[in-house]
Amino acid sequence: MDSTASAGHELRAGRTNLDSEALKAAHEATEGARARIFRAPGRVNLVGEHTDYSGGFCMPAAINFETMIAASPLAGRTLRLRSIEFDETVEVDLDSLPAAKKHWSSYPLGVVWVLQQEGITVPAAALTITGDVPQGAGLSSSASLEVATATALLGLAGIEIPGPRLAKICQRAENQYVGAPCGIMDQFISANGKQGSALILDTRALTFELAPIPQHLRLVICNSMVKHSVADGGEYANVRVQVEEAAAAIHKLKPEAKELRDATLEDLEAAKGTMSEAAYKRGRHVITDSQRVLDGLALLRAGDIVGFGKVLNDAHRSYRDDFEASCDECDVLQEVGQALPGCYGSRLTGGGFGGCTVNLVEADAAESFVDAIREGYRAKTGIEAEVYICSTADGAGEMKGLA
Ligand code: GLA
Repeated sequence: MDSTASAGHELRAGRTNLDSEALKAAHEATEGARARIFRAPGRVNLVGEHTDYSGGFCMPAAINFETMIAASPLAGRTLRLRSIEFDETVEVDLDSLPAAKKHWSSYPLGVVWVLQQEGITVPAAALTITGDVPQGAGLSSSASLEVATATALLGLAGIEIPGPRLAKICQRAENQYVGAPCGIMDQFISANGKQGSALILDTRALTFELAPIPQHLRLVICNSMVKHSVADGGEYANVRVQVEEAAAAIHKLKPEAKELRDATLEDLEAAKGTMSEAAYKRGRHVITDSQRVLDGLALLRAGDIVGFGKVLNDAHRSYRDDFEASCDECDVLQEVGQALPGCYGSRLTGGGFGGCTVNLVEADAAESFVDAIREGYRAKTGIEAEVYICSTADGAGEMKGLA
């Protein structure tokens, strides 16, 4: 964690999560074996929402909220998972994994399942899990749990795999084992993030470029406290069907357009009569937001932060009006945030239907921004927002050098 995080405004999910030393000690006391510590971050997406299952572009950054896992080998074929936050231990036989259920353990078990499907021998192990990524806030707590699990198990097995493949494995765990139809963005950034930068991800090629976030800026994340979940199969799955409806309608008219990535606004207009109104509007958001990522990259490279902030505000309008993924509370947060001194732009980030806004704020205005937005949000909604001044972080890895 670096010094740009403001302790006063940091969230500690459940407020019981352990730091790396305490996690190591807790694991070693229970398991009687020396632990190695692995970590994987959550993320905030700056722009490019619901573009990652259309082959489009998005611009996430890994943040200094993460899942940490203490790991040690076991004899036999047992995998023991202990969650500090849920205060629960789950033990399974690696040769007969249980079916997925609505439970935190399904995320790590899904990773085990996919690794085995890929022909990787998952070692018997004890894993103690802790983390401070707020859950249901749209900051990818589940992806960070998946990527941390994969990193820990591969680390124990002594197997190195490239970050993009790691991300695909974890996405597959969530799609096929947990049953949540997410795209690749969250797992990709958790595996491949770079401190100091946002990552411009081409979700078709699975290649990326980095855009440095200037040091004088902070990413201030405001939690509306309205819960969001990709795994509950509700809104996210519905909107995904409509995005795919738009892509299919365009494909009929223009066979070379296989995904919305390949479509222009003109193509969308031409196919408008052959799709539902919802598919049309959601398609319009996806096409324009993917373009906003590229526009945003050019502005960041040119050092035009004012222009980039406008892109964020435009992206919010598109997410609210075309994609219809916002909610009243998040609109209030965005409205209040973007108007505050030192704030260049603000938007709802993540899967939508609640969760957090991300605000691009001058470092020296960040503390007063936090107070003002909490006050403004409370006055209009009666809700106490949690606000975090975030710093960017590196993608998953082992934490070396612990005693
Ligand atoms: C969730 C999903 C991602 C992505 C975003 C929306 O976070 O897990 O794959 O689709 O929503 O951009």
